[in-house]
Amino acid sequence: MRILLTGGSGDLGTLLSIDLLAEGNEVVNIDTALPQIPGSIFIKGSILDRTSLAKATHRVNCLVHIAAWHGIHESKGTKSPEEFHDLNVTGTFNVLEAGAKEGVKKIIFISSTSVDNPNSIYGHTKILGEEMCRAYTERHDMEIIILRPRAFIPPWNRVVYRDFIEWGKWFMKGAVHINDVKQAVLKSIERLDSGKHLSEMCPVLIVDGAYEYTTKDLDKWDADGEGSTFRKYYGQYYNLVVTTGLDPARKPKLLNIEKTQVIIGYDPKYSLKNLLEELKQYGLEGPPSPF
Ligand SMILES: NC(=O)c1ccc[n+]([C@@H]2O[C@H](COP(=O)([O-])OP(=O)(O)OC[C@H]3O[C@@H](n4cnc5c(N)ncnc54)[C@H](O)[C@@H]3O)[C@@H](O)[C@H]2O)c1
Repeated sequence: MRILLTGGSGDLGTLLSIDLLAEGNEVVNIDTALPQIPGSIFIKGSILDRTSLAKATHRVNCLVHIAAWHGIHESKGTKSPEEFHDLNVTGTFNVLEAGAKEGVKKIIFISSTSVDNPNSIYGHTKILGEEMCRAYTERHDMEIIILRPRAFIPPWNRVVYRDFIEWGKWFMKGAVHINDVKQAVLKSIERLDSGKHLSEMCPVLIVDGAYEYTTKDLDKWDADGEGSTFRKYYGQYYNLVVTTGLDPARKPKLLNIEKTQVIIGYDPKYSLKNLLEELKQYGLEGPPSPF
C-alpha cells in the first residue's frame, strides 16, 4: 500500500513509518521538518501549500493526517490562534480536499480527547477537523476513522519531559503510551484495508492505555488507606515510587475504549506496571528513544 503521513517526521509519524516500512508499504511523508529515519518518500513542504500536498497525495491508497499544533503549543503559548487555525483547520481542509481530488478513500484523522474542552483553541480546532471529516465522508464516499487519543508525548521527548519521573507523574494521572497510539493507527489502516465497510459512518474512537485497576478499584479508591489500591497491584514497587517522588495515592482517570476495541480490535499494552518496570530498569533516564 502507498500510505501518506502528514507530519510524518514527528513522534507518532516516525514510529508509524518504522512499522509501515517494515511491512513493505510505500510511505510518503509531507512535513516541514526533516524525517528522523530513512526509507520514506519525503516531500519537504507544508500542508498549507496545496501544490506540495497534491504531489504528496499522488497515487496514495490511505492517508493518515497527523500534522497539527497541539496541547503543548497552546499551554506554552508558542503558537497563536491564527497559527492554530491555519494548520489545524485550513490544513485539515487542504488534506481532505487533496485526498478527494486524488480519489483517496481511506483516511485516518488524528483528533484528540481535547475536543472535550471546546473552549480551548486546540480543542476547538479538532472539533472543526472532525466535523470536516464527517462532511467529506458523505460528499466523497470516503471511509474515515477518527482517533481521539489522550496525551501521548513519549518519555524520551526531552524537549517536553525533563526526565522519566516527570513523564511518570503525568502518566499516573491516566494516560496512553505512544506505542499504543501507533497500534490504534496501524489497526485502523488494517480495518480500512480489509474491504469490509465500517458499520458506522466516520466512527470516533477513544485511545487510552492499558490498566491493572478495575472500575471497582476506582469506585473504592484507597478505601483501606492512602496508597492501598496501588499496593494491591504494585506493592513491590512502592518504595521505589515513593523515593522517586511519584505519588502512589494518585487516582487515575480511565476512559472508555470499548468502541475502539470492537471496531478496530484495539488492545493497549502499556500500563502502570510497564512504567514501573522501566523505572526500575532505566531509572531517571527512562527507556531510550527507539530511533
Ligand atoms: N502528542 C500528544 O500528546 C497528542 C495527544 C492527542 C492528539 N495528538 C495529535 O497527534 C498529532 C501529532 O502528534 P505527534 O506527537 O507526532 O506531534 P509532533 O509535534 O511530534 O509531530 C507533528 C509534525 O507535524 C509537522 N508539521 C508542522 N507543521 C506542518 C505543516 N505546515 N505541514 C506539514 N507538517 C507540519 C511537524 O514538523 C512535526 O514533524 C496531532 O494531530 C495532535 O493534535 C497529539
